[in-house]
Amino acid sequence: MLVATRIKAVKEIVKKAKADKKSIGFVPTMGALHLGHLSLVRQAKRDTDFVVVSIFVNPIQFSPKEDYRSYPRTFIQDKALLQKEGVDLIFYPSSRLMYPKGFSTYVEEVRLSKYLCGRVRPGHFRGVCTVVTKLFNIVQPDISYFGQKDYQQALIIKRMVDDLNFPLKIKVLPTIREKNGLAMSSRNKYLTPQEYEKASCLYRALKLGKAIIDRGEREAKVIIKQMKEFIYKNLPLAKIDYISIVNANSLEDVQIIEDKVLLALAVYVGRARLIDNMVVRVRGGK
Ligand code: PAJ
Repeated sequence: MLVATRIKAVKEIVKKAKADKKSIGFVPTMGALHLGHLSLVRQAKRDTDFVVVSIFVNPIQFSPKEDYRSYPRTFIQDKALLQKEGVDLIFYPSSRLMYPKGFSTYVEEVRLSKYLCGRVRPGHFRGVCTVVTKLFNIVQPDISYFGQKDYQQALIIKRMVDDLNFPLKIKVLPTIREKNGLAMSSRNKYLTPQEYEKASCLYRALKLGKAIIDRGEREAKVIIKQMKEFIYKNLPLAKIDYISIVNANSLEDVQIIEDKVLLALAVYVGRARLIDNMVVRVRGGK
């Protein structure tokens, strides 16, 4: 397994792999790797001949009050995990290399980015689209892999790839969960053991929402109210950032549930801001 910290080195290594007729799979990450990330790597290994993983905590997708400084950085462990998976190349750049003095060009998706996390994290998706564009241009993959855990991010990246004609395919893979149902996340490291146990109620709240819909309820605000009550009952100290029911394609709020909706939530548990979601399909209205 190779580790490159320079853009030129990545380009040369990938160029050689392509000359050998190898297809390139790419998994962008911010490190602190867990089985969620590794599920993407394993799919890339199955689909393509040469797998590249980037590890870069991208400063421009964090707002000044967020956890950029304290975000877990565990490169030695990450490297060992990726070696075991048979990854071919890790790209591990510095922020000075990615954003040199004078950097002033950004990529912004302007519709889907307005909703859900975009409402409460202004500039976040602009930071994500910009860094992913740079990474795509550096790595030039055939297929890149994203997790449904960050549903809105994956949808925005797919939109961007279509809109700007990037010559690659995006694959979105299911959310990998802890035994108790909590979606795996690098930020779970911020949780105390008690918070970790209790945080399973976020997934249970999503399942409750789905069960209420399956029983025939179609009014979004009725469902959201019950999900909120469920979370506050189980986690009185939680701070709900949002619980939303939106059209799964447009991400616009829905009042009456029909077709395919996304139940999405963002909740602070202790100092961790956790997100999770579930897609629910219904057959017509009430
Ligand atoms: P990061 O949070 O490290 O996630 C990297 C990839 O792993 C994303 O596509 C994310 O959706 C996926 N992922 C995270 N947890 C997962 C889980 N429990 N199950 C399945 N997939 C999971 O997302 C980012 O980094 C950054 O925004 C990035 C795209 C790298 C741009 O900086």
